[in-house]
Amino acid sequence: MRGRRCQANSRPPRPTVSTPDGTPFMDRLPQQTTCLSVQSPMLGHHSHAAAAADASTRGHLIHWARFYDRCVFLCTLGRAGAMREEAADLAAIRPGESVLEVGCGTGELTRRARERAGSGAVVCGIDPSAEMIGVARAKSARAGLGIDYRIAAIEALPFADASFDVVLSSMMMHHLPEDLKPLGLAEVRRVLKPGGRLLIVDMKRPSGRLAWFSLPLIMHHGMTHGVQDLAPVVAAAGFASVESGDTRFRSLGFVSGRVAA
Ligand SMILES: C[S@@+](CC[C@H](N)C(=O)[O-])C[C@H]1O[C@@H](n2cnc3c(N)ncnc32)[C@H](O)[C@@H]1O
Repeated sequence: MRGRRCQANSRPPRPTVSTPDGTPFMDRLPQQTTCLSVQSPMLGHHSHAAAAADASTRGHLIHWARFYDRCVFLCTLGRAGAMREEAADLAAIRPGESVLEVGCGTGELTRRARERAGSGAVVCGIDPSAEMIGVARAKSARAGLGIDYRIAAIEALPFADASFDVVLSSMMMHHLPEDLKPLGLAEVRRVLKPGGRLLIVDMKRPSGRLAWFSLPLIMHHGMTHGVQDLAPVVAAAGFASVESGDTRFRSLGFVSGRVAA
């Protein structure tokens, strides 16, 4: 691996396990319990307790990781790559900066963070879904990216205080119940260095006459909260210079914040 690994909190060692397709899990797993996830008529999020290797969370996990990239490609009409490029651009990652993506899924944005931070920088991704992390690790290993992927949830990050310059969240916050968002953001603030930055890109709460026909609503059983509603939550978690706005993609917006230096 080219990149340096992130410093983990002291947790009890766990056995090495493998993904169903034989990809070894490189790290000692930070947590292994059951999880809850949600049923989607279109995409089939599961409503049963997932495999033991998932991290414990009340967030909605995705267990169809092998199809995730293709599905996102289709749902975005082929613009998934451009979406991730814009998120990486908004984060303005500089060479050498340490980066964490929370809810990294298969690592498409994390990979772009590695490209911008460079091979010598610490780049990590966490997701409570063992399947997602299995796919992300396999992709990272194939491309020699040296990204440190962990099975963990935003509300219990397995990293020491002040570990990262930048934390990214792409399309993850809408997977959390409302009461979990402040807890997750407090953890993000804890692991950011003084002066560190948070960037969230996520779906807007649909509004207007055609809202009921929008893809986010159909896929998520009606979104009562969107990225438009996150700025006060980010500010309440102790972030300064909180900004929000639109992206080039009509259904997506961003919120950013900074830890006081
Ligand atoms: C729609 S996917 C986004 C994946 C990736 N960031 C992207 O842009 O493609 C949402 C991800 O959030 C993860 N997730 C759910 N609950 C979470 C939690 N408590 N902490 C971190 N991630 C969580 C899911 O497992 C899933 O991989």
